[in-house]
Amino acid sequence: MTKEGKSLGYGHQGLKEHGVGKVEEVRSSQGRNGRITVRLQKQRAITTSPLYYNYDIQKYDLHPNYHFDDCADKIPSGVPEYIDAGNQYVERIVRAMYHFKQCALIGPSGTGKTHIIYLIAELTGLPVWEVSCGLQTSSYDLIGRFVGLGKDNWIDGQVTLWLRHGGILYLDEANMMKQDVATRLNPILDTRGHLVLTEKDNEIITRHKYAYCIIAMNPATAEFAGAKKLNAAFRRRMAVWVNFAYQSIGEKIAAREAELVMKRSNVDEDTAYKLLRVGAEMRRQYLAGDLPYGPSPGDIINWAVLCHDGVDPKKAAEETLIALTSDNNEVQEDVRRIVESVFR
Ligand SMILES: Nc1ncnc2c1ncn2[C@@H]1O[C@H](COP(=O)(O)OP(=O)(O)O)[C@@H](O)[C@H]1O
Ligand SMILES: [Mg+2]
Repeated sequence: MTKEGKSLGYGHQGLKEHGVGKVEEVRSSQGRNGRITVRLQKQRAITTSPLYYNYDIQKYDLHPNYHFDDCADKIPSGVPEYIDAGNQYVERIVRAMYHFKQCALIGPSGTGKTHIIYLIAELTGLPVWEVSCGLQTSSYDLIGRFVGLGKDNWIDGQVTLWLRHGGILYLDEANMMKQDVATRLNPILDTRGHLVLTEKDNEIITRHKYAYCIIAMNPATAEFAGAKKLNAAFRRRMAVWVNFAYQSIGEKIAAREAELVMKRSNVDEDTAYKLLRVGAEMRRQYLAGDLPYGPSPGDIINWAVLCHDGVDPKKAAEETLIALTSDNNEVQEDVRRIVESVFR
């Protein structure tokens, strides 16, 4: 059964789906001589996700016999399928979580890092505590703070909540965190680590036995002007690193990505490939440092939805890809040229 309303969703681009599959509980009772009742129950997966058996992760139970009753509303549901061109990202990340409790994902924006974390949380039945890190992220956001007057109004931050309740701590753009904030996290990322709430009353919080940490970041290379190198202590605490790449890039158009665009927008195959050719060229230029942004599959699907609605692809691109990339006229002109090279 899907949990309606309460649980955390993950928005996705494209047509709205109807009648998403449900995990059924088959139960049959049989009375014999009116006294003996036989009850059969279909083995319950650790998840409610209809996608559970699409991935080879059944041998990894990340919270044996443990239910996150106090934060069930943080377990995502209805996360759309993640298409994979043979990289087995889901399996690799779940395996790393099982053995090492934490894992790092590296790849340019739009390669599906956030999507896969929410999918994995749903597949494995774990709550998500997300922190988008940036220069403005303070230790108050992570650890907690007093609100208003008085010493009674303490509110736990995401990291503290995660330590107490378990689940996945998802640190997005972990390399953008200020050094002193990252340093505060170091002891916690030792898997037997704990936190001393010096801000409050020196309460010692030990890491929940099913507390997993996933960090995501853009690669810190010359092309990514904004991205910094990850703090070394942090780096050493991550046993497994998974690299994410665009499926279609430059001249290469991935059939699976074209299928995804068709499925989510209903455009025909020819249109899907053309839209992806534009996207793939933009991604190439983004990685080469010539554009400020490379479009994600979601961005291309948005463009495709408008095209399928009857908008001319060039006009639809103005409202989506072109506006999205930058509000700088020159940059927009560069994108327009790429669009026009495919849609003459
Ligand atoms: N492999 C994929 N399969 C399905 N959708 C994807 C895939 N990769 C990216 N997307 C979609 O592209 C958009 C951007 O993905 P996101 O997870 O936000 O990327 P990132 O966190 O790496 O920047 C989302 O709408 C996501 O659903
Ligand atoms: Mg993201």
